[in-house]
Amino acid sequence: MATVNYPIEQIREAFPALQRIENDYFAAYFDGPGGTQIAKTVIEAMSNYMKNGVANLGGESPTSKETEAIVHQARESVATLLGANKENIVFGANMTTLTFRVARALCKAWGDGVGNIVVTEMDHHANIDPWISAVEGSNISVRTIQVDAQKKTLDYANIEASITEDTKLVAIGLASNVIGTINEVVPIIRRAKEVGALVALDGVHAIPHFSVHFNDLGADFMFCSAYKFFGPHVGIVAINEVVFEQLAQFKLEPASNEAPEILETGTINFEGLVGVTEAIEFIASIGQGNLLREKLNSAYKQIMVYEEHLAKRLRDGLGKVDHIVLYQADEQVFKTPTIAFKVIGMDSKLVCHYLATHYSLHLEYGDFYAKRLVEKLAVADKGGLVRAGIAPYNTVEEIDRLIEALQHLRKYLHV
Ligand SMILES: Cc1ncc(COP(=O)(O)O)c(C=O)c1O
Repeated sequence: MATVNYPIEQIREAFPALQRIENDYFAAYFDGPGGTQIAKTVIEAMSNYMKNGVANLGGESPTSKETEAIVHQARESVATLLGANKENIVFGANMTTLTFRVARALCKAWGDGVGNIVVTEMDHHANIDPWISAVEGSNISVRTIQVDAQKKTLDYANIEASITEDTKLVAIGLASNVIGTINEVVPIIRRAKEVGALVALDGVHAIPHFSVHFNDLGADFMFCSAYKFFGPHVGIVAINEVVFEQLAQFKLEPASNEAPEILETGTINFEGLVGVTEAIEFIASIGQGNLLREKLNSAYKQIMVYEEHLAKRLRDGLGKVDHIVLYQADEQVFKTPTIAFKVIGMDSKLVCHYLATHYSLHLEYGDFYAKRLVEKLAVADKGGLVRAGIAPYNTVEEIDRLIEALQHLRKYLHV
């Protein structure tokens, strides 16, 4: 079997939270798309940094020099993770705040210019609203690439018409945080570049699951968040150096005049950056190779095979339960192991409550801030969707517990 060499025991030992026992069960976390558990090495490295003495940048104390080295290292590790250059990497509070900041800066640079920006119905609102709110009151209108509700993918037929000569920016996610659909961004980036538009990729849901290469993709921005990949709450954006100039006008006085620091507002989260580097090391530790990128690529391959094995088991299992409706694209569409469903005749909040209290299975419900998608799928009522997000630390036992728990739910249903 393809997953035979996957070091699941070693991976589970790396997460202290997996030792948590509730109702005689080990707590099973299927809420990774909302935030994964944090690796022990991340927790320890962050705590050690704080225990050893801290300082701000630019001082003469050893702790200041150590902190400078930490920032430097984090930029390098993230650049390797994202396939970017370290000069491209900007840190901030979270993805939404960074997107908000970048969107305002860009809009200021566009001034009185006329044109449009393009968002999608598939995306999390963090990659929609900052752009819409930035262009409000300007001469720039908003276009939307729609979701094909039947196929549960973007409506690719819509793209040529949406991205035109006067398009300034296209904002698109790499993968849906609700139904897992991986968007075909390559032709979209190609089309955007044909017409001279910028491209902002939301990599928040993708980075925990598959390898990306910012420089090869040729986009201008790629956002992600370390708390979705076993680290702390730190937002990250890789920015094409050519674009930095357009953003520079929005600089605040305390920021450096140099990229990438020019976009970092105030003092960044040093202890968080220690954790970001360790989170990337944790992913790499699953793989083999000499260089960090090689280890990461190898790790991602193993993670993908393992997660897909679990996802298939869950999809197949739930597919046989007649009071469950799955919301997912066809088999040939690439997906992350994020599985959305509804239990016929029961509010999704209640489903999650039942799973958590009886089986220590932790799933989330609602629209996951991808409101437009959930509305398009016509599932916004009765608590929205239930989402099972599979992470590298989930197990076959947990998948089977989930399927069984959902089968048992039948006795509470009036269907
Ligand atoms: C796909 C996606 N994009 C953006 C965000 C927002 O990220 P942050 O919480 O770092 O602002 C999330 C958070 O759930 C997400 O899932």
